[in-house]
Amino acid sequence: MKAVQFSEYGGPEVLRVVEVDAPHAGPGQVRIAVRAAGVNPSDWKRRAGLYRDFEAVTFPSGIGVEASGVVDEVGPGVSDVSIGAAVFGFGEDTMAKYAVLTHWAVKPDELSFEVAAGLPVIVDTATRALDEVGVKPGQTLLVSGAAGGIGSAVLQFARLRGIPVIGTASVAKHDYLRGLGAIPTIYGPGLAERVRALAPGGVDAALDLAGSGIIPELIEIVGDPARVLSVADFAAEQYGAKFSRGPPNNPERLLDDVARLCCEGLFRLRVDETFPLEQVAAAQELSAAGHVTGKLVISIARGTKARK
Ligand SMILES: NC(=O)c1ccc[n+]([C@@H]2O[C@H](COP(=O)([O-])OP(=O)(O)OC[C@H]3O[C@@H](n4cnc5c(N)ncnc54)[C@H](OP(=O)(O)O)[C@@H]3O)[C@@H](O)[C@H]2O)c1
Repeated sequence: MKAVQFSEYGGPEVLRVVEVDAPHAGPGQVRIAVRAAGVNPSDWKRRAGLYRDFEAVTFPSGIGVEASGVVDEVGPGVSDVSIGAAVFGFGEDTMAKYAVLTHWAVKPDELSFEVAAGLPVIVDTATRALDEVGVKPGQTLLVSGAAGGIGSAVLQFARLRGIPVIGTASVAKHDYLRGLGAIPTIYGPGLAERVRALAPGGVDAALDLAGSGIIPELIEIVGDPARVLSVADFAAEQYGAKFSRGPPNNPERLLDDVARLCCEGLFRLRVDETFPLEQVAAAQELSAAGHVTGKLVISIARGTKARK
């Protein structure tokens, strides 16, 4: 089968589309014929070697941690899904024609394969960040980097929890933030004054999703480092703020819940752009440039018999 791999750390040029043996579903896993795979900043960061001090990579390495597709092999011990079911979830080396999923939910027909593939990481990270920063209904939350994948999910879960949000993004994306229920403002110098004008009573907590080095400023705005959390700045803990990382907590329930919310019109994901498997390098370059709105997705063409 075709898969995207890299055999050394480096720029997008180290990515190759290669022919490899298809993986098989181990105990508690399913294999899918991949229809779409979500692109995450961690993909290019891992490829560039930014995680090499704390995460071992065995070369050649595949790419991708989430996908949607059609189950074509069921591992030992799996009884909740059958061959032919459309599913989405967390997996391994998902930028390939076939991939193994470790956690999944059934994909409703109303949800496209592209949207479903982009949901797992943002839904897990957004709910975890909201839970761990400890913001309560009625309290005000400041979100730095609100227009990306994680930000889009944070804004919608906050709205569902009754938490008003001030979100930062460039001006062109302010309508996008309003559409997800947030009050927009620009990032950059003068943020504290802008936030004060928008929330004279102050903000109760802040999330840093952009990793742009503003933890001290967020602590000053909130007034308590314990109510500032980053998912993107490893230095956060040096300032007394929190840093949140996986693994996902109860992923099956998260995936089932977001599928239902999407069907009820209470959650949506903007797919900014889709790329074929052969253009994973271009997708990663766009991701690394840092201005995606919503999510980038790799769409994998199947034969004419593939299910919609
Ligand atoms: N710790 C974890 O568990 C975990 C899990 C998943 C992801 N992450 C990390 O979380 C971060 C966000 O991921 P993502 O998928 O949401 O990324 P993304 O979709 O690529 O985010 C892009 C967004 O960042 C905004 N942005 C760029 N520079 C900014 C700045 N200086 N201030 C505020 N916003 C800025 C952009 O808005 P404009 O276009 O308006 O500039 C754009 O909409 C990444 O660093 C990722 O590695 C961590």
